[in-house]
Amino acid sequence: MTRSLAQLDLDHLFHPATDLRGHRDLGPQIWDRGEGVYIYDIDGKRYLEGMAGLWCTALGYGEKELARVAAEQMEKFCYGPLFAGKSNEPSIRLAAKLAEWVPIDGARFLFGCSGSDANDTQVKLMRYYFHAIGRPEKRKIISRGNAYHGVTMATAALTGLPAFHKNFSLPMDDVIHLTSPNFYRQGRDGESESEFADRLARELEAVIEHEGAETIAAMIAEPLMGAGGVILPPEGYFDRIQPILEKHDILLIDDEVVCGFGRTGKPFGCQTYNMQPTTMTMAKALSSAYQPISAVAVPPFMFDAIVEAAGGVGLFAHGLTYAGHPVSAAVALRNLELMEERGLMEHAARMGPILQQKLTAIADHPLVGNLRGIGLIAGLELVADKSTRAQFPPADKMAFKVAAGCLAEGLIVRALPGDVVAICPPLIIDEAQIEELVDKLGRGLDRAAREAGHE
Ligand SMILES: Cc1ncc(COP(=O)(O)O)c(C=O)c1O
Repeated sequence: MTRSLAQLDLDHLFHPATDLRGHRDLGPQIWDRGEGVYIYDIDGKRYLEGMAGLWCTALGYGEKELARVAAEQMEKFCYGPLFAGKSNEPSIRLAAKLAEWVPIDGARFLFGCSGSDANDTQVKLMRYYFHAIGRPEKRKIISRGNAYHGVTMATAALTGLPAFHKNFSLPMDDVIHLTSPNFYRQGRDGESESEFADRLARELEAVIEHEGAETIAAMIAEPLMGAGGVILPPEGYFDRIQPILEKHDILLIDDEVVCGFGRTGKPFGCQTYNMQPTTMTMAKALSSAYQPISAVAVPPFMFDAIVEAAGGVGLFAHGLTYAGHPVSAAVALRNLELMEERGLMEHAARMGPILQQKLTAIADHPLVGNLRGIGLIAGLELVADKSTRAQFPPADKMAFKVAAGCLAEGLIVRALPGDVVAICPPLIIDEAQIEELVDKLGRGLDRAAREAGHE
């Protein structure tokens, strides 16, 4: 059974974001089922899901209530578009529920299917808005090194990771990348974290000066960067950049795809980092990944300008077939209700410091150069030499070795660019499971160190 499925995979599947040659040699790892924070492979081996899938299964696996809601909605009304003013109850109720959650008064919500299409929508929305108010030359978007905003053409251009540009003829014009806010790598000798934040703010000013504020629509930022290496903003970062953006009438897109819904200890990352976003992108934990769905929160001043302009600029000609899919919306709505009923935000806020505290036990490991995290998200940056911060040669694939070592121990973590190992468990994780996670992580690190002869 296992072998034949693996062969079918090799014969027919084109895996995204995969080392395709390595996959040909190693074959697939096939998951079968999940329960709580654990998933099981097809041979019945149990793993602690230390990455919540791809930062998304907040409520954990096997939640029967969400399965019930999905099945009921499919039977009742499986699909209807939101185009041309048509609507459906789950989308209406989900938008109303989100309005209670997001820190943007009077926000409206444009639904999509993934974080990428939602961020793509953000780019188009920014442009449409500035067209609507008669300033179409304001079209560029500022992003940052190490950012991850998706993989469509526009969002891959916003993403600040070389592999996502190489061989795709990206990035595109009209996207400007600033220095990554990674203090461990970008901070200079003798520079404090807050001086680093000052330097990044000065860079922003200089870039705006150079490009011309009249050509820049928005800046996009994750409150903390996930896929780019779990990079926390340096102290005071958003307090410094926010007034500069405001001064130049540059809007701030808050990408909450990873940080949203409790990950950093507050409902949204922007609340943890004192960011005042103009718009917000949400996906992943919005439905705890039980259905694909994303949302863009739009403030009244943008929506009103767009409505006002409808006669002049014309139809808001943007929307996906599955925007406001009733099954996805019903599941996301129930997911948020369950989060409320079960006090999941409070639970995550309690567990976060416990995870961070327990992780300090492995900060001394010979492979770990930098341990960083907040709430229920953390990253370990691996180094060949702690004192010089020298990196391993990329060919060593050290973070992949650690991920493989953890897998052998029954723990899923993720290797990220820059030899960072990411941890982001489902928000339902309890203290005993955190202990198990950290214990297995330590043993996974040991395995990798032994294999690399680096003990
Ligand atoms: C911060 C952030 N934005 C956007 C995306 C893109 O989301 P998706 O993979 O659903 O298109 C991701 C995916 O990991 C992400 O981490």
